[in-house]
Amino acid sequence: MFITFEGPEGSGKTTQIQFLAAALREQGYTVTQTREPGGTDIGDQIREVLHTLKNEKMHARTELLLYTASRAQLVAEVIRPRLAAGEIILSDRYIDSTLAYQGYGRGLDLTTLRLILDFATEGLKPDLTLYLDISPEAGLERRQSAAKQGAEWNRLDALALDFHQRVHVGYQTLIQLEPARWVVVDGMGRVEIIQERIRQAVFPRLPRRS
Ligand SMILES: Nc1ncnc2c1ncn2[C@@H]1O[C@H](COP(=O)(O)OP(=O)(O)OP(=O)(O)O)[C@@H](O)[C@H]1O
Ligand SMILES: [Mg+2]
Repeated sequence: MFITFEGPEGSGKTTQIQFLAAALREQGYTVTQTREPGGTDIGDQIREVLHTLKNEKMHARTELLLYTASRAQLVAEVIRPRLAAGEIILSDRYIDSTLAYQGYGRGLDLTTLRLILDFATEGLKPDLTLYLDISPEAGLERRQSAAKQGAEWNRLDALALDFHQRVHVGYQTLIQLEPARWVVVDGMGRVEIIQERIRQAVFPRLPRRS
C-alpha cells in the first residue's frame, strides 16, 4: 500500500508521518517512510539545489524537472521495489505537490505536467492521500516560528502568500477531481488529536498482513 501526505507548508506532514509509521510498525507492518524531494542519495542532492535560498533565479520549468527527476529516482530505487516486497510506503509529498505547486502555484500547463509525471513515475499513483487541511497563513506562521528555533526556511517557504493561496486552491481542485483517493484531515489542533484522525482514516484501509 502506498500512502502519501500532502498539504501546505507547515501543515504537519513531517510531524504526523513519523507517528503513523511508528503506529503501523507496532501493528506488525513493514514500513518505509520517505520524503520528497529526496529519499535517495541522488534525490537528496537535488533537494539541496531546490531548497537553497541562493537559487532564487530558478525558472519554473527547471524547478518542475528537478522535482520530477528526484521523484523518478525515488520511484525506481525505493518505492516500486518495496511495494513489490509487500511493504507499506509512506511518502511526505508526491505527485500532487507538483500539480499544486508547479501547476496551480507557478501556472505551468497541467496537461503537460500530468504527462511528465506519468513518464517519471511510470504511472505509479498513491492508493491513499492524506491532506492535512490548514490555511496557508496558519501553516506559514508555524513554519516561521519553527525557523526561528533553527528549522530550515527554504526557497518555497519564502514565496509570497498569494503563491501559497494558489497552491491551496489547487489542492482543493485536485481533491474534488479524485475524491475516493483523498482523505481530508483537519490539520488544526493538538498533534495527538490529528494523529488519531489520521489513524481512523488509515487503519480501516490497510491490507491484511500475510
Ligand atoms: N498540530 C500542531 N500544532 C502546532 N504546531 C504544530 C502542529 N504540528 C506540527 N507543528 C509544528 O509546526 C511546524 C511545521 O510542522 P511540520 O514540519 O510537521 O509541517 P510540514 O507540513 O512538514 O511542513 P513543510 O511543508 O514545510 O515540510 C513544526 O515546527 C511543528 O513542530
Ligand atoms: Mg515537512
